[in-house]
Amino acid sequence: MSTSTSREHTISLIPGDGIGPEITRVVTRILAATGVKIRWEESLAGAEAYERYKEYIPKELYLSIDRNRVALKGPVTTPIGGGFSSINVILRKHFELYANYRPIKNLPGLPTHYPAVDLIIIRENTEGEYVGIEHEVVPGVVESIKIITEKASTRISEFAFSHAQQTGRKKVHAIHKANIMKMSDGLFLRCARNVAQKYPDIIYGEHLVDNTCMQLVTNPYQYDVLLLENLYGDIISDLCAAFVGGLGLVPGANLGKECAIFEAVHGSAPDIAGKNVANPTALLQSAILMLRHIGETDAADRTHQALCKVYEERKCLTRDVGGTAGTQEFGDAIIAALG
Ligand code: NAI
Repeated sequence: MSTSTSREHTISLIPGDGIGPEITRVVTRILAATGVKIRWEESLAGAEAYERYKEYIPKELYLSIDRNRVALKGPVTTPIGGGFSSINVILRKHFELYANYRPIKNLPGLPTHYPAVDLIIIRENTEGEYVGIEHEVVPGVVESIKIITEKASTRISEFAFSHAQQTGRKKVHAIHKANIMKMSDGLFLRCARNVAQKYPDIIYGEHLVDNTCMQLVTNPYQYDVLLLENLYGDIISDLCAAFVGGLGLVPGANLGKECAIFEAVHGSAPDIAGKNVANPTALLQSAILMLRHIGETDAADRTHQALCKVYEERKCLTRDVGGTAGTQEFGDAIIAALG
């Protein structure tokens, strides 16, 4: 029985490339089966968009997100060591999606080395090394600029603490390398400390990023909310994904004041693209976050329950989590579990 709101939502959809089109197809099928009324506005981005429109991000995509304020996005390949800039980074900057929110939580029925992880990664999404300002000073010498601002560091710290407070979380750790990057990471830490003072009920800690890797692997349960600059957040997210079963599982949301783009933590996985073996769980969990964001909490809850049921039954899982099911078959199992 569907108890979705009667409202029709128009949402921008970027299938992306690599495994993107396969997993977005499954996820949109599952969302349709929840009964939520969604009209998708689909756009290409990246190399395929360039082939067709001579633009890596077509104007229509910007306009679509401007109009709809919400997007679901598959991964987009970024060329290594040259070529066009990351579509993800450009979109996050353009729409000021300053907070990258990534919950790391075990799914029931999926055994891992760490059975009860429940932590939140909050990654600054607009600056740091990802501003992409690099140049060759002289042949053989390249300069890469990292930008850290008080404004962005305070804004992301506020986001982390207020999220912790609203969701009853107890601790926020700022992760840094201010022993080496004394000015940039030093500024980030000062901003985090200032914000921490406004939240006396939340325990505030600071760890060096290298030590954090060791601490996480030794005992991830010591952390609650991790507050990180852009690059550290990117790297630590993949590390934490391994706690709960891998990159095929972890969702994400890029959040700003005006817009939100929901996407998995993982990339376009070219090694498995087009083989119907990719796990759509991470994108599905991102879509569940999106359903909550647009007020479709009942559909979000039902989809989450269906996902848990399929994992608990362990009959129809993709191969990255020990099963033999294909991407589309896994989607069919979720739809069947929705009832
Ligand atoms: P990746 O996340 O695409 O893949 C890493 C490993 O995890 C691969 O072995 C892959 O097969 C596996 N994997 C990833 N997602 C999976 C899924 N849903 N189901 C099963 N296995 C999965 O990272 P990689 O290979 O470093 O990057 C590939 C491309 O993706 C690069 O061009 C990178 O720039 C881009 N990328 C895009 C992102 C985005 O659009 N948000 C995020 C991260 C990377």
